Amino acid sequence: MAVPVDAAPRGIDLGDPAFWLLPEEARGAAFARLRERRGPVGFTDRATGRRCWALVRHADVAAASRSPEVYLSGPGVAAPEPARWVRAVFGDSMLELDDPRHAELRRVVGRAFTPGLLAAVERDVERTAAELVDRLERERPTDFVPAVAAELPYRVVCSMLGLPDEQRRRILARTGPDGFGMPGQGLRALVSTRLAVAALGRERRRRPTGDLVSALVTADADGRRLGLRELGAFCSLLLATGAEATRDALAHGLHLLTVHPEQRALLLGDPDAHLDGAVEEIVRYATPVDRFHRTVAVDHRLSGIRLAAGDRVVLCYGSANRDEAVFRDPDAFDITRSPNPHLGFGGGGPHFCPGARLARRQVRALLRELFARLPEARSTAAPVTVPSPVGHRVRSLPFAF
Ligand code: HEM
Repeated sequence: MAVPVDAAPRGIDLGDPAFWLLPEEARGAAFARLRERRGPVGFTDRATGRRCWALVRHADVAAASRSPEVYLSGPGVAAPEPARWVRAVFGDSMLELDDPRHAELRRVVGRAFTPGLLAAVERDVERTAAELVDRLERERPTDFVPAVAAELPYRVVCSMLGLPDEQRRRILARTGPDGFGMPGQGLRALVSTRLAVAALGRERRRRPTGDLVSALVTADADGRRLGLRELGAFCSLLLATGAEATRDALAHGLHLLTVHPEQRALLLGDPDAHLDGAVEEIVRYATPVDRFHRTVAVDHRLSGIRLAAGDRVVLCYGSANRDEAVFRDPDAFDITRSPNPHLGFGGGGPHFCPGARLARRQVRALLRELFARLPEARSTAAPVTVPSPVGHRVRSLPFAF
């Protein structure tokens, strides 16, 4: 039986913030070695001096995600943790809450997403994807990210929230090349969105219209609703995590289907048979949200390793998605992979991505529309990425068609 060893092998320094900024390939090779450790891998974060554990195996990421009372989200899910004043001013999103408030918010949000609203949003996805491909044909841009990958999910979230077109354009113009919520320009867009959404929430509270924001800010049968700060935090989460992760999935998707021509031929040969598989494999292979953090609530053992209350834990979704114990030939991009139990939308448990269906729908709709109308569409170089708090974000992707 393999004995758990709790420290990283020589040459891999998880405590150095630079490790998490390494290019994907270098990090991927390190994670493959770490998975041989058979359990959480310990390190001291040099920036904070905190004891931390990287969960690199599929089983460990799933186990921690499904034990929210042991692995808390409340102390913060990103590194570096946001300053206290930031949290006090802007409020916490549901991603950074534990029960009972987390469960209450999920219920309010779950009820606001009525079947009627979801159907309308999904129609909007198809229409927007078609409009963006029309625009490609007219304007012939050379960077896939601003032209399509950033635009589609951003428009979908804004129209779901009912943000007027004028406001949407203003916020998008302020977002900058690296997207929403990133230091600098993206952060300014975040602040102006919060203000816009709070104003909309105040208005809808006075005069509800039956849209999503009205449902979120007016009390449900149990008297629960989102406060205006919570509404702002929720909307920013949709943009900063939901829309941006979808943007990365779309960009990686086009690139993966370019550098794997046999997979592309399979997809274009029979889209109905392969689109769903392609979407899942893109999310597994690219893992747009590469990691989130948790804080250990009580001393306990995970896969034989002792974790202490107060330790920080990194859920390494990208590594879990290449775990050879779960995926045969994990480094192969294979749109026919079945089953494909990837953890790209989370490891299960109460925080599992509520936007997974919408994200899948967007990637599916865009690939269908793009390849039906422009079957030669392809990337012409590798994606240019920038580090973000949850992984690597795609800044640009040169493309042609
Ligand atoms: C490919 C695109 C996407 C990926 C890879 C992704 C991934 C994730 C992951 C890994 C989590 C954390 C799960 C956990 O902690 O267990 C999450 C949470 C979340 N996602 Fe997504 N997501 C995507 C798209 C979206 C979209 C389109 C939306 C909505 C418009 C969305 C809304 C959310 C929200 C609100 C949460 C927080 C849920 C909670 O804490 O209860 N996501 N997502």
